[in-house]
Amino acid sequence: MSVLGIDEITYGADDLPACRRFFLDWGLALVQEAADRLVFETLNGCRVIVAASGHPDLPPAIEAGPTLREVVWGVESDADLALYAGRIAALPGFMHSHGRIGCTDPNGLAVRLQVTQKRKVDVRGAACNTWDRKDRIDQASPAYERARPIEVGHVVFFVRDVQACERFYVDHLGFAASDRYPGRGAFLRCAPDGGHHDIFLLQRPARDAGLNHVAFTVRDIHEVFGGGMHISRCGWDTQLGPGRHPISSAYFWYFRNPAGALVEYYADEDQLTARWQPREFEPGPTVFAEWAIDGGIDGHTRRQKGASASDGKFITDKRH
Ligand SMILES: [Fe+2]
Repeated sequence: MSVLGIDEITYGADDLPACRRFFLDWGLALVQEAADRLVFETLNGCRVIVAASGHPDLPPAIEAGPTLREVVWGVESDADLALYAGRIAALPGFMHSHGRIGCTDPNGLAVRLQVTQKRKVDVRGAACNTWDRKDRIDQASPAYERARPIEVGHVVFFVRDVQACERFYVDHLGFAASDRYPGRGAFLRCAPDGGHHDIFLLQRPARDAGLNHVAFTVRDIHEVFGGGMHISRCGWDTQLGPGRHPISSAYFWYFRNPAGALVEYYADEDQLTARWQPREFEPGPTVFAEWAIDGGIDGHTRRQKGASASDGKFITDKRH
């Protein structure tokens, strides 16, 4: 028995028209719409809900302004759900209704579990040719005009107490630690077998609670670049990226999100098993990003922001 991944997230936000535009540009499908609530889906049916921040169904916010108000994790069966209910029944904010159970995590966030509603999807990433493995034969590597995110792969929160939060997710939901900034940060995955992290908890010196980012899984590195350049062409602002994380090995591109904090396209994270030993890191710029482009790539010029594109047919053509 293990938690399978993120099934649904809900933002509380103020500018719903901007959020509507943003998530459609981001590549999600809008499946329900009301004046005070938008429901989007990724390719595999993971739901992203944006509700007006005063919506009566929203759990309390962990910070001021637009932010994530609830994370719903998927499990395999009703039997699993009943077992988890037993584990969290004594915790603050316990609830059980409409096929969901939940409680409040030590950071004040509403955490829910449900039998997963996500679908299996046949999504193929590009094969890579390396020196020793030629997996792409007689086939060009793809270039994407825009991204179609597969699912919400991980969420990242600023937390008041990283140890209390790690204990909550490990002891009650069965998560496993992947890597740590000792006393400062914990990368956790839902189960011993899985992607590097489903949640990252970061305790800043101010020990404040908040959302750092929500990350959407895309199929390969090329979709990180193609998706990011489309978002740039749509007029949305890069926070950082594209770039590559040394921890998790993933390629990333972060954008500012009108629904709260940052959003990320990412691909090619490490896959771990029970044999993986958590590592310890000291925080620092080269630990966060092996390399990164500040300000992003301009989707029109396809060069770093502020640089002009080549105006000839070939890169060697002279400008006049
Ligand atoms: Fe991330």
